[in-house]
Amino acid sequence: MIEFLPLLPFLPLTLASPLHPRLDDGLARTPQMGWNTYNQYNCFPNESIIHSNAEALIETGLADAGYRYVTVDCGWSVEDRLPNGTITWNETLFPQGFPALGQYLHERGLLFGAYGDSGILLCGSPPNNTGSLYHEEIDAQTFASWEIDSLKYDNCYSDAATNYPNVNYAPSTSPAPRFTLMSHHLQSQERPILFQVCEWGIDFPALWAPEIGHSWRIGNDITPHWRSIVRTLNQAVPQQEFVGKGQWADLDMLLVGTTAANSENEGGYVLSIPEEQTHFSLWSILKSPLTIGAELEGIRGGSLEILTNADVVGFNQDALGVPAGLRRRWSDEGSEVWSGELQGGRVVAAV
Ligand code: GAL
Repeated sequence: MIEFLPLLPFLPLTLASPLHPRLDDGLARTPQMGWNTYNQYNCFPNESIIHSNAEALIETGLADAGYRYVTVDCGWSVEDRLPNGTITWNETLFPQGFPALGQYLHERGLLFGAYGDSGILLCGSPPNNTGSLYHEEIDAQTFASWEIDSLKYDNCYSDAATNYPNVNYAPSTSPAPRFTLMSHHLQSQERPILFQVCEWGIDFPALWAPEIGHSWRIGNDITPHWRSIVRTLNQAVPQQEFVGKGQWADLDMLLVGTTAANSENEGGYVLSIPEEQTHFSLWSILKSPLTIGAELEGIRGGSLEILTNADVVGFNQDALGVPAGLRRRWSDEGSEVWSGELQGGRVVAAV
């Protein structure tokens, strides 16, 4: 169900097409690149995890290759707000605090990615981690005061009509107004803050997210299996026509270099190297944000080479910002062709 959303006069908009108003604040002219805690550490991030992976981003050359947003996903907040109403971090997990964490990242040329939720709690609760519903303005101000550079905004515990269940994939109202409200308050801060809409594609966000954010998740979480790649690509097909500079369809985190306890591959890697190459190439040319989900210390050389392949990263970061689309699929034979334009009259194709 799509609800009518009034155009907010305070958002700078370009009208690429009169039917598709877009947020145009100069951020994410190419898909954002970075690293996120969730896939490898679930909802148990902490300061030393962030420090060690941030150092590894630099030492491995990943930061130089463009991966700069470091995002602390679920698990960082606590149940209660401070007496003045502000949201705060878990002091046991982050003893030096979030402002110091931001400073640590900025000193190293990295960017500070925060995670919040448009419901009453963060995804991954319990233990209860407070979310931003009904506190959007003060939370946007607080996040900005911590000098965050991006906000991944999630959709758990948000459906008031059904008493705030953890997840409701068929809610009675659209998530769009809740995400729009947070976008408005982020836009009101002096600091430019990249806004990542994460409502799992339940209300076809391609139709409304480009107006309020810089990327939108197209589906549910990627899981550590090859079949999850195939499922995600299928879900991407109808999204690609809405993608453009500053508005990217987010295919979710990369499995390149990701390990899992139950994997039978050598070293516990979820995918083989050829599978990682295929996965990375497609995420790249579809212009998905490139967010590494792997633990970086000790990551195998083959996965690092894939993540830093200058040609493939270059296709993703191409200035034209045109995503590849599915051209043809031979289902019986198991092959397909994707292609898309690049600047300079070139075309990139994946077979
Ligand atoms: C999901 C989201 C994931 C991750 C997780 C945390 O809703 O899609 O990317 O953030 O919550 O629990």
